[in-house]
This record gives sequence, C-alpha cells and structure tokens, in this order.
Amino acid sequence: MESVLLAEGVSQSFGSITVADNLTFSVGRSECLGIIGPNGAGKTSVFNILAGIIRPRSGRVLLAGNDVTHRSQYERTRLGIGRTYQVPQPFGLLSAYENVLAAATFGGGKSGREAADFAFETLKRCGLAARADTLAGSLPLLDRKRLELARAMALQPKVLLLDEIAGGLTEAEVRHLVQLILSIKPGLAIVWIEHVTHALSAVADRILAVNAGKAIAEGAPAAVMADAAVQEIYMGAIIDVPSEG
Ligand SMILES: Nc1ncnc2c1ncn2[C@@H]1O[C@H](COP(=O)(O)OP(=O)(O)OP(=O)(O)O)[C@@H](O)[C@H]1O
Ligand SMILES: [Mg+2]
Repeated sequence: MESVLLAEGVSQSFGSITVADNLTFSVGRSECLGIIGPNGAGKTSVFNILAGIIRPRSGRVLLAGNDVTHRSQYERTRLGIGRTYQVPQPFGLLSAYENVLAAATFGGGKSGREAADFAFETLKRCGLAARADTLAGSLPLLDRKRLELARAMALQPKVLLLDEIAGGLTEAEVRHLVQLILSIKPGLAIVWIEHVTHALSAVADRILAVNAGKAIAEGAPAAVMADAAVQEIYMGAIIDVPSEG
C-alpha cells in the first residue's frame, strides 16, 4: 500500500529524555495505525514532529511522497495533516459551528457559502448538529472530543492524527466515538495514539508500541497486545482486549 504519511528514521530528544529513537512507520489510505506506549513514552512528541511543531534531530516526514520535514505547521495543515489535541483546544468563546467554520476557512481554504455549508456538514457528520450554537467552552467532554475531530475534518486532511481522543470518556461514549471514527476512516489515513486499547483495536489495522521513543513491537492489534515486551512495559497490567463483536 502506498504511504500517505511516512516517518522515516525520526529521532529527537529533550535533554536526557528521548522521545523518538530512529522511528520509522507509515500509514496508507483507508488505514489506521494505532500507537500505544506508557505515559511519557514520546507519543505526543512524535505527533508534534509529524505536525511540524517540533523538528526531528534526524529523519524525514513524507506526506503523499513529498518531504515536509522542513515545512511549517501551517503549511502542513494546508497540505493535509489534521490533528486533534490530547487536551481539546477549541476557541471556548466561539460556538461549535464557529470553531469548525474557522477551521474550514483558515485551514481548509474555503470561503463564503461553501465554507458555511461544509462546516455545518462536518459538524453533522461528527454528531454535533444539535450543538452547533453551543459555546465550545461549555460543551461536555464527549462533545469537545467530537469538536476536536470536526475541526480536524474541516481541513479535509489526507492524514488525521488523533491524540488520546477516547481518554476520559465513559464506555458508552467510547463506543459512540469508535463508530464515528470507523465512519470517517474510508479514504482517510489515521494515526491514533490511545491508551483505551480496546477502542483502538476496534479501528486500527496495525499497532505500533513505543517506549522511551523506541519502537518495541508493530503488527496486528492482537499480536502487539500479546507481545511479551509490550506486556512487560505495562508492568504486568492487564491490557484489555477487544470484547465487542
Ligand atoms: N517541548 C518539550 N520540552 C522538553 N520536554 C518535553 C517537551 N515535550 C515533551 N517533553 C517531555 O518528553 C517526554 C515525552 O512526552 P510526550 O508528551 O511526548 O509523552 P506521551 O507519550 O505523549 O505521554 P502521555 O501518554 O502521558 O500523553 C515527557 O517526559 C515530557 O515531559
Ligand atoms: Mg501524549
């Protein structure tokens, strides 16, 4: 499968903390690559490298075959890298609709009626039509997560980076979110960092496990969850396996 996004031998560290140690991974169209690893493993930092917030010390980031390693965050957004943040980052004093409209306009390059219609369609697609006029700052957590997704989708990205979007949700909310992510997956490349591994396993085609910036296992979700090195870094914690049919 041709890579939509390819990280090639990416390395970076902050002082003595290594967040990426010669990491290579890729994701293709209609595919989801899951990333797991303990707190502080460097997962969000890897997203920051992909999105252009931090530069890798070495290695390259390719989007649809083009080297974007030296492109700014803004350019990468326009070129098709959309992301959600671990802690939702909406404009709290704008409505849900206005947040998505801002993304469609400034990130997605749309204007006028086209931007307005597309923003509303995207809100609807993400299950937020009834919340269009609600101030983003007063949305409950699930809706703030959906809004993160809607803002990223409003860019019409080639690749979507999801950073712990299921974190803090109830089981029922996680199930809704999984259905939503499955519904947007066709045609999109998704990289999803997640501690809620049963949610991740329901969507991801492959999982990459990292620890201290290093890849320790990669493959089919069930195989990675069962991997001895992966079990060990979770220090014997029972990793939940998919329980839904
Ligand atoms: N800009 C920065 N400057 C210095 N240290 C940083 C910076 N960004 C992250 N770190 C450190 O790098 C390490 C990895 O952080 P990162 O947020 O990438 O981990 P993570 O795998 O996403 O963890 P979590 O699962 O808790 O979200 C942490 O020790 C963090 O404090
Ligand atoms: Mg993180």
